[in-house]
Amino acid sequence: MQAINASIGFDRKMWRQDIRGSLAHAAMLAHVGIISTEDERAIREGLAGIAARIEAGDFPWDEGLEDIHMNIEARLTEAVGEAGKRLHTGRSRNDQVALDVRLWVRDAIDGLTGQIEDVMRALTARAEEHAATVMPGFTHLQSAQPTTFGHHMLAYVEMLSRDRGRLADARRRLNESPLGAAALCGTGFPIDRHMTAKALGFDGPTRNSLDSVASRDFAAEFLFACAMCATHLSRLAEEVVIWTNPYFGFVTLSDAYTTGSSIMPQKRNPDAAELVRGKTGRVMGALTGMLTVLKGLPLTYGKDMQEDKEGIFDAAETMTLCLAATAGMVRDMVPNAARLREAAGAGFSTATDLADWLVRELKMPFRDAHHVTGRLVAKAEAKGSDLAGLTLAEMQTVEPRITEAIFGVLTVEASVASRACYGGTAPENVRRMAAEWRERLA
Ligand code: ARG
Repeated sequence: MQAINASIGFDRKMWRQDIRGSLAHAAMLAHVGIISTEDERAIREGLAGIAARIEAGDFPWDEGLEDIHMNIEARLTEAVGEAGKRLHTGRSRNDQVALDVRLWVRDAIDGLTGQIEDVMRALTARAEEHAATVMPGFTHLQSAQPTTFGHHMLAYVEMLSRDRGRLADARRRLNESPLGAAALCGTGFPIDRHMTAKALGFDGPTRNSLDSVASRDFAAEFLFACAMCATHLSRLAEEVVIWTNPYFGFVTLSDAYTTGSSIMPQKRNPDAAELVRGKTGRVMGALTGMLTVLKGLPLTYGKDMQEDKEGIFDAAETMTLCLAATAGMVRDMVPNAARLREAAGAGFSTATDLADWLVRELKMPFRDAHHVTGRLVAKAEAKGSDLAGLTLAEMQTVEPRITEAIFGVLTVEASVASRACYGGTAPENVRRMAAEWRERLA
């Protein structure tokens, strides 16, 4: 029973939150006259002593005392006697744990938000440096159109800014205090839930005691925001894996973010990127686990809910690692501009520019221009050249109205510079957008 029942092995991570909650509860109990000010002082001092012991690593955790709440309360009573036994008045472990988990998730959101912003800053800095560094833009992982390394970096800044927004939304919704819901129905003691809510930085108390102890949707939302962010980091990691492959040779990572092989001396493996990609599964698993715990639970509290914590802790810790590794890799990687430019021009990547020229200059309907360009690509392919390698005469066998001017749109530089619509790939756009992000993130 003890082995399956005890949660102290993992929920001790919430000791700060548990003590914070108890301090607020005790202060309120004294304020409304349920306990004496002497008892409140004894509790406060006792809890400070416990915090110091935990911090110092000499707190005697006891599995027999089940969880973090009982461990702290039992030691408090040992230390301060009677007063410690009065702390639990008008409270239950059900609202206590709901409170602790909310506080823990709220702290995690604040920490992860700062880390997401750090990655965004790193990406933005690379975007400013490489606003005009052309690289191939892919669809289907096939050459599509030239873009710039800076534009590519800023695509991830946008994704991460939405992840940050999702965490902020989750935080807004979770920021209500369940403390005082007691076991499930509230309490007959004249407690002041508004006072404890305020003391703990909540916008106010929750409105329904049953909901307060039964609900963990705040945690599921947090885990979804984490899973989405992990998915974004995983896509970037996957690109780093591809880009560092020597057949691509788009970027290099230093030894700081790669490892060697124990047998193959030439190896430089992008392990950090692979681990970011691989760890995404844990976060997704935590979300699935949370929803699964909740889906069949009748109101209100069930011990199943003790299973909420490990997934939350693991997801948050995994995100901390992955965000730190990603920030480091983004700062570390060196784009190979010459190789990127070469690849940007390969695969007839300016074919769309050619078709657009036919539309603009010859007033050709786009579908016809698409067809003519297809024939020119076939011609170039047969000749073994790129589009700019065709002579004017060769082009004119396909479309006689083509003039010398067409060569002006076939370079990758002209291609990226032309895409100056809002949100487009043009270096001037990228520079402006990166500067905007830099200021917003300052
Ligand atoms: N360790 C428990 C949990 O994490 C605390 C709440 C226990 N409540 C109860 N009625 N047994 O959910």
